[in-house]
Amino acid sequence: MKKKGLMQHKLAHGVIVIFGASGDLTARKLMPAIFSLYNQGILSDRNLILGVARSEFNDQSFREKMQQALLNEYPDHAKAIDVFMEQIYYQPINIYAKAGYQELKTRLQGLQSQHDLPNNLLFYLSTPPSLYYEIPKHLAELGLNDESDGYKRVIIEKPFGTDEQSAKELNRHLSHCYDESQLFRIDHYLGKETVQNLLVFRFANAIFEPLWNAAHIENVQIYANETIGVGSRAGYYDQSGAICDMIQNHLLQLLGIVAMEAPAKMDAYSIRNETLKVFQSIRRFKSEADIRENVVIGQYEAGCVDGKLKGAYREEKDVQKNSVTETYAAIRFFIDNWRWHDVPFYVRTGKRLKQRVTEVVINFKSTPHPFFSQVQKISKFKNQLVIRIQPDEGIKLSFAAKEPGAGFKAHEVDMGFYYSDFAQTQMPAAYERLILDALQGDNTLFSRNDAVEACWNIIDPIIAFLKENAASMLKFYPSGSNGPIQADHMLEERQHVWRNPTANFKRQQKG
Ligand code: BG6
Repeated sequence: MKKKGLMQHKLAHGVIVIFGASGDLTARKLMPAIFSLYNQGILSDRNLILGVARSEFNDQSFREKMQQALLNEYPDHAKAIDVFMEQIYYQPINIYAKAGYQELKTRLQGLQSQHDLPNNLLFYLSTPPSLYYEIPKHLAELGLNDESDGYKRVIIEKPFGTDEQSAKELNRHLSHCYDESQLFRIDHYLGKETVQNLLVFRFANAIFEPLWNAAHIENVQIYANETIGVGSRAGYYDQSGAICDMIQNHLLQLLGIVAMEAPAKMDAYSIRNETLKVFQSIRRFKSEADIRENVVIGQYEAGCVDGKLKGAYREEKDVQKNSVTETYAAIRFFIDNWRWHDVPFYVRTGKRLKQRVTEVVINFKSTPHPFFSQVQKISKFKNQLVIRIQPDEGIKLSFAAKEPGAGFKAHEVDMGFYYSDFAQTQMPAAYERLILDALQGDNTLFSRNDAVEACWNIIDPIIAFLKENAASMLKFYPSGSNGPIQADHMLEERQHVWRNPTANFKRQQKG
């Protein structure tokens, strides 16, 4: 599984401490990401992992659980996984009691002296969000925030707060325990290779920048459509809904990168300053009419996804029978700055939709004069740039070309770049890239305190409105469909249409 792409040298030695280690995320994402870094030689046998949770595992039983998870992910690497197990440890603690953290510190000191390690510690909080207060406070009280003898960093999973106020409070609390440079608020979308490539695409190519504005772009679409339902996460999801789960973080972060100005430098501070300005410029929803006009929410009913019959959201385990939580949301945003004046940014996400696809679509304006309108069938043709975030990652630009022969029969054709053409390269998983960045102290791809607050500030009025009015706004859509038709109507008001992605991005050619 040697991969290209990520850095090729070893990192400083130390311990990665995972809180919530007995949970699903550790087994499915974190441990495979760390193992992959190890298997590429980026982490060595002096980078240890200490799982922490309340569950009564010991080193051996935790290793067995992790080994199984890794074998599921990398069935061909049994031997390397076996060796890797030796650097995994487990410490059960009472996460609410001060004494538990003292035990943790003692265990860490023991491991450090046993393996002759410097005092570098990366804490990963993969716990219920209520613990984002408790854990950093206890760690800081024991000096596990002091960087005089090695780094001390904290990765915090989403959701970061439930609204602007709570995000502010959490930021304030964390700032008493850790410096902002030690905090890594994870948004795994920013770890996706294709999302980072957006930065290169925009700022390493001179040809797109002159067109990247309201004079040439008619609308932008950013969507993450999923085929999965809520699965076993209904306890969380029914309280959250699609807007908080996906739009407040992942999709607004994507929008930030698509719409930002060129940063002064390609560093964390400059890039995050520019995305923050985008979030600050997004027009706020000020009235009920604003929200009703620009927001569509839906919830899935029974239907067929990939040929299999699936039940309704309200029938899912742990979902209330009369739940009005949205599993789909489409929002029309405007960015009130010079570059994007009056360009709609259509953002949508939904569960149990027809196809799993995340794309950024730039729809350019048509030519000022329809030169070929009498003779060609695509007189309404407009150039479209599609950045496929997942799956079948790539970038495709459509343009019109003349069919050989008499007259001017034109066709829409594509010019594309497809990651699958890099024969030997696998896409590094988002978590792999982000854990590596945190180990290196680079927080470019993590959300800054002010950005998280700004994103909640955009979303808060919608959430507040839906608290009272979700039932009257909610549209039901069959599982396996494209979501509520009202989202299409929202675009039709300006003669726009959602792009309709087909399953295979690479081979897709329109007639
Ligand atoms: C998570 C959301 O942050 O992102 C999930 O909580 C969602 O509801 C997931 O399914 C989507 O991530 P990805 O990487 O599969 O697009």
